[in-house]
Amino acid sequence: ACTVIPEAWRFDCYPERGAIVTQDMCEARNCCFVPGHSGQNGVPWCFYPPDFPSYSLVSQQPTPLGQKGILKRQQKTYYPDDIMTLQLEVFEETNTRLHVKITDASSPRYEVPIEVPTVTERAQTPEYVLQLSKDPFGVIVSRRSTGAVLLNTSVAPLFYADQFLQMSSSLTSQYIYGLGEHRSSFQHDVQWNTLTMWARDVPPTEKTNLYGVHPFYLGLEEGGLAHGFFLLNSNAMDVVLQPAPALTWRTIGGVLDFYLFLGPEPASVVQQYLEVVGRPAMPIYWALGYHLCRWGYKTSNTTWEVVKNMRNYGIPQDVQWNDIDYMESFLDFTYDSVNFDTLPDMVKDLHAHDQRYVLILDPGISSTQPPGEYWPYDEGLKRGVFIRDADGKTLIGKVWPGLTAYPDFSDEATNEWWFENIQRFYRRVPFDGLWIDMNEPSNFLDGSTNGCPNNNIENPPYTPGILGGLLRSKTVCASAQQKLSSHYNLHSLYGLHEARATSSALTRLLGKRPFVISRSSFPGQGQYSGHWLGDNRSNWKDMTASIAGILNFNLLGVPLVGADVCGFSEQTDEELCVRWTQLGAFYPFSRNHNALDSAAQDPSAFSPSARAAMTSALLLRYSLFPLLYTLFHQAHAYGDTVARPLLFEFSHDPRTYGIDLQFLWGRGLLVTPVLLPGVDSVQGYFPAGRWYDYYTGDSFLSAGEDMSLSAPLDKINLHLREGTITPTQRPNVTLWVSSGQPLHLLCALSEDGDASGELFWDDGESLDTYENQLYAYVLFNVNKNVLRSAVVHAHVEASYITVESSSFYGVQSRPEQVLVNGLEAAFSYKDNKVLTVVDLGLNLNQNFTISWS
Ligand code: NOJ
Repeated sequence: ACTVIPEAWRFDCYPERGAIVTQDMCEARNCCFVPGHSGQNGVPWCFYPPDFPSYSLVSQQPTPLGQKGILKRQQKTYYPDDIMTLQLEVFEETNTRLHVKITDASSPRYEVPIEVPTVTERAQTPEYVLQLSKDPFGVIVSRRSTGAVLLNTSVAPLFYADQFLQMSSSLTSQYIYGLGEHRSSFQHDVQWNTLTMWARDVPPTEKTNLYGVHPFYLGLEEGGLAHGFFLLNSNAMDVVLQPAPALTWRTIGGVLDFYLFLGPEPASVVQQYLEVVGRPAMPIYWALGYHLCRWGYKTSNTTWEVVKNMRNYGIPQDVQWNDIDYMESFLDFTYDSVNFDTLPDMVKDLHAHDQRYVLILDPGISSTQPPGEYWPYDEGLKRGVFIRDADGKTLIGKVWPGLTAYPDFSDEATNEWWFENIQRFYRRVPFDGLWIDMNEPSNFLDGSTNGCPNNNIENPPYTPGILGGLLRSKTVCASAQQKLSSHYNLHSLYGLHEARATSSALTRLLGKRPFVISRSSFPGQGQYSGHWLGDNRSNWKDMTASIAGILNFNLLGVPLVGADVCGFSEQTDEELCVRWTQLGAFYPFSRNHNALDSAAQDPSAFSPSARAAMTSALLLRYSLFPLLYTLFHQAHAYGDTVARPLLFEFSHDPRTYGIDLQFLWGRGLLVTPVLLPGVDSVQGYFPAGRWYDYYTGDSFLSAGEDMSLSAPLDKINLHLREGTITPTQRPNVTLWVSSGQPLHLLCALSEDGDASGELFWDDGESLDTYENQLYAYVLFNVNKNVLRSAVVHAHVEASYITVESSSFYGVQSRPEQVLVNGLEAAFSYKDNKVLTVVDLGLNLNQNFTISWS
């Protein structure tokens, strides 16, 4: 019976790491033992036989929203504390969303404390068909329209022990995405690939758990249909991908609470997922500008110097940051009064130049300052805001300032204390946004100064493939106590909770959209913060890998994401930094950041030609602000991606499924960066259709082909997809100035002469402008030689800017006449089929037409 199971379908019965499984060990688990060859490729030697005991569905009854049932297991598994009787609940929440919950039938267990929608009516015409297999129990869900099986948990036994819950399912294809945070290609490898999730401070490395945790995947089906799956669980877990293709969730706590999203387009899968966990916040406008940071500005004056150099060279910069250097002895809510004595003046100067200032905060609060001298700790102790060890004493770890306590952001009282700290410090340094680092939370010790107790919370029967092998590795003890639960349960929510506390503090303090960038993240993070990809290195490989990372976080609902431009650790070089600045100009969040000991890598540090190339890339970004801002609005309002994988727009073209070296902004702006040294051309894939060179309007008709593009060092290739209208703006060195400048519309006509686009516009910083109707929305449409703008939502903000000019790419012959609102206007026409109309002076808040004949 064992050998007939095809290798790809063998589900691992002995996942314990480091164990060399012998026949005896395997058979003690009642599993099949079929050893592979040496240098085996990942096929488990010890795997479940078809009759391995699982649960059976012993009763079933309908409920208003679906059904419920009881699952029973007769035989114990080889892990302690099997929960022998489970309750199953199925909620048919919407036509495209199915929710299944499996809990302990007799006593409550930890559940992830995030808000999810509650539904009161059962879906009317669900796009899914649910089947429950009884013995062994399994959930089988198929797509009504095609019959495709999206989920089948009967492919392997279900485990539900106190600290070992495991559920497997077949997958529809090897095209699977999401499952952050990992360093990997955008499309995950299903060749025996284990992705472990447990928030961890470590420079991005393949096959290790990283800063964030996102148990959500998007899978593709035949014909490019898509569905999504979300396991609402925050415990340490492994996600195993195998070539069947199949996936196993293996978590060490909580409950099995999951959602299936039916799409059927990739974009609607993400929208449906974000409806459950929360859509991203609308960023304040300057978040989309260029940010400069480094670790190792020795003084406020050296920081200020860089800002001044940038200004002198006319290089765009919206935001200057400081890393932990600004602090006195690395203490949060202090600044070094000697080396950073001019900090308040610098911030004043930034503000006077319409620039902004962001500083770092780490969660660790020094516990060793003399009593009465450090309010954050003294007051925190008084209010009991810190995480406690298993004995109820303040847990002490170690970070930059030495010994530290860790605020428990799962507690409202902590959030109030955090706010007061932020408010007090703001009175001294009026920063505009906050960078929250080290919030996995990171600890230079394993556990605490007192170690951790030896119990089954610290040393569970099974430990997922966590770097360091222990839950406490470079963080606090799993047995530490927080308000809502143990750290064992809440660990991976630390970044989410800190971001929530920080964004709400900034909102209270500033009354504007909060700007927060967080290193650790969890589902729903986008509501509170953006993210950067952590401690990358200054090399071509890390630059290349950043694209997959950025696409993944867009899929995970954190569109405000970027990697450290020019690389964090190691020394960058001019060519790399130029290419990276060009790519970084298309990160939704664009920040150059550098490590302590590296030489300066801000644009002003390079040769005139490199500076010029960087300046033009950044001006290009600023000129595309109207598009980028509109895309962020759509992310906020609907759950769309900003930096978008090609497969989201071309899901019928399998050649797009693995692409992560190119990406789109929205529907139609294709970015093809150079990712190699010493080249002056780049290959890119162009899905079928006409593509226009962004800069010139030259075009080609692709049949779905790879193209070679010229790419001198001062150019990043950009193409416009046929049928799109891109609003752009005359750029300037800050978005404050730039965003008041006249607009230019780039209309890239389809083969039928059509195009469409849109623009969201508001004051850029007030809270909830969309929710409160304080915005303008304008649709642009070209059809039969007429461009029409239609103000579908009017607002005075739109009356402050004009549409100054428009280019039409793909006008087949020279027009005899161009009319603007019915009046004849001057125009130019070039042989590459580009029609341009200038000096329009059209108020954005009024409908207009431009036509040609
Ligand atoms: C780790 C962060 O990832 C990095 O960006 C920062 O520079 C250092 N901490 C110092 O604060």
